[in-house]
Amino acid sequence: MLRRLFSKPSAQAAAPAVDPDLTTLSIRKFVDAAPTPQAAIDVFAGRWASSFPDLDPPVQAGDVPHFTIDHRPRQAAAKLGDAQGRLDGYRILELGPLEGGHTYQLERLGAEVTAIEGNAEAYLKCLVAKELTGMRSRFLLGNFTKHLQSQGADAWDMIFASGVLYHMVRPLELIALICRAAPRAYLWTHYYDPERSEGFAGAMDDHNGFTAEHFQKHYGDRSHGRFWGGLAEAQRYLKADDIVAAFRAFGHDRVEVLETNLEHPHGPCFTLATSRST
Ligand SMILES: C[S@@+](CC[C@H](N)C(=O)[O-])C[C@H]1O[C@@H](n2cnc3c(N)ncnc32)[C@H](O)[C@@H]1O
Repeated sequence: MLRRLFSKPSAQAAAPAVDPDLTTLSIRKFVDAAPTPQAAIDVFAGRWASSFPDLDPPVQAGDVPHFTIDHRPRQAAAKLGDAQGRLDGYRILELGPLEGGHTYQLERLGAEVTAIEGNAEAYLKCLVAKELTGMRSRFLLGNFTKHLQSQGADAWDMIFASGVLYHMVRPLELIALICRAAPRAYLWTHYYDPERSEGFAGAMDDHNGFTAEHFQKHYGDRSHGRFWGGLAEAQRYLKADDIVAAFRAFGHDRVEVLETNLEHPHGPCFTLATSRST
């Protein structure tokens, strides 16, 4: 009996020696120092993208200003919010918040935000950010496509979708789901440009009778701490005109291109504000 109690765990119960997807998370378990905000950040030391807003005491995380001067949440509010450029009372579903920087800004613009994140490490960082900044937004862990598939029409006032479309296995389906889930949407995305995008393989995507070519490229190593991509093994870019046409075909007939950047280091990108006229 004693031998059974103290024997090593069976091979079946032990963690697998090899992680085939190279995506297992490993963090230090015990923190034996006096508690500080920086200690919470340092659970993911060297793995943050975002810098934090001014906190007391200040913290050091990453260097991308998602919480502060990144203008996308303000641009969404200016185009799709009220006459004052505010989002007071708007129920927003944010897709892929990463570390909650845009969530923080949307909330400060008045929105009630629910944000769905499918990377468990990023989700936990959002919870750290929520605690340190006092956000009241809700963060959910899981695949936002599966969430949207199970929701009816107009469950939200706005969808905020920054940096996610090109990470989808079926990007046209996500556009259709966005158009059904809310009467308005803000989208920032990379797109495929034959003159500027290299190393992509073309394939056809079809959703509910709308067909477009998408261009696929494998991520390569997803195990490093600064991988901010999608849940599958590859990214898939649509052409800009097809993205605009798909929004119109799936019911957001008003599509405004707010900004285009051909020089982004990861390839051309643009920003859309879309809505239904009826
Ligand atoms: C490139 S980052 C964009 C982060 C942020 N929205 C921004 O614009 O800076 C993509 C984020 O979406 C998340 N994501 C991608 N596909 C997802 C899915 N199907 N469900 C939930 N989260 C997803 C990733 O884990 C990552 O945090």
